[in-house]
Amino acid sequence: METVGEPAVALHDCSFSYPGGRHVIAGLDWQLAPGSFAVLTGATGSGKTTIFRLLLRLLLPTSGHIYVLGEDLGRLPARQRPKLRRRIGVVAQDLALLGDRTVEQNLRLALAVQGKRGRDAKRRVVQLLQEGNLMHRRHDLPVQLSGGERQRLAVARAASGFPDLVLADEPTSHLDPESAVEIVERLERLQIAGSTVIVVTHVPGHFRHVSARRTFRLEHGTLREL
Ligand SMILES: Nc1ncnc2c1ncn2[C@@H]1O[C@H](COP(=O)(O)OP(=O)(O)OP(=O)(O)O)[C@@H](O)[C@H]1O
Ligand SMILES: [Mg+2]
Repeated sequence: METVGEPAVALHDCSFSYPGGRHVIAGLDWQLAPGSFAVLTGATGSGKTTIFRLLLRLLLPTSGHIYVLGEDLGRLPARQRPKLRRRIGVVAQDLALLGDRTVEQNLRLALAVQGKRGRDAKRRVVQLLQEGNLMHRRHDLPVQLSGGERQRLAVARAASGFPDLVLADEPTSHLDPESAVEIVERLERLQIAGSTVIVVTHVPGHFRHVSARRTFRLEHGTLREL
């Protein structure tokens, strides 16, 4: 279990290449304290999404070690992975919303997957709809929402289980400035409430008002703090 002082995320001398490809990351050392707000930037194809896949154990590093919320991903038994996964809220680059479910059903289903049903789940959905300014959209399908509303739904779903770690891939990049601000503020509130937040973005300027932020640039397989 996590103890005070332990990093939320730690990569030690970590390298990764896709089969037959060049190294995407090489000898990467990176640590983030719990409650950090990290902004990860870098050119297209530099490996930002790959780092998220490694943190989610969708990929294993070619060498090195990765710790997430105190767990060594290389040694975590399969039966314990779902429990760790439930502590992580993900906003995928393509959002991965369920297109045939309404806003409300998308949130209820996320909670059901976490084992939350009944009155508590209902209350949590109302809270998420309010916080995400989506109450008036609750019976709409994702396709009926604006880009900003869809993104707010993806963030609300990621936040649904009070995650210890939030990974958001380009959550503001395709939004108008006003919608981007709403997403940034919502992510900052999650961090203030205690989550460690990592956002990948090619528009780091969107996050300049986040007071706790640390910005890193991925270049040639390693991270440099800006
Ligand atoms: N499944 C895969 N198989 C092989 N190569 C891949 C795969 N996914 C990504 N790559 C390659 O790995 C490199 C890093 O890709 P990644 O998606 O992590 O970049 P990114 O920084 O997220 O880019 P973007 O800003 O465009 O989202 C790229 O060269 C990409 O072509
Ligand atoms: Mg990407």
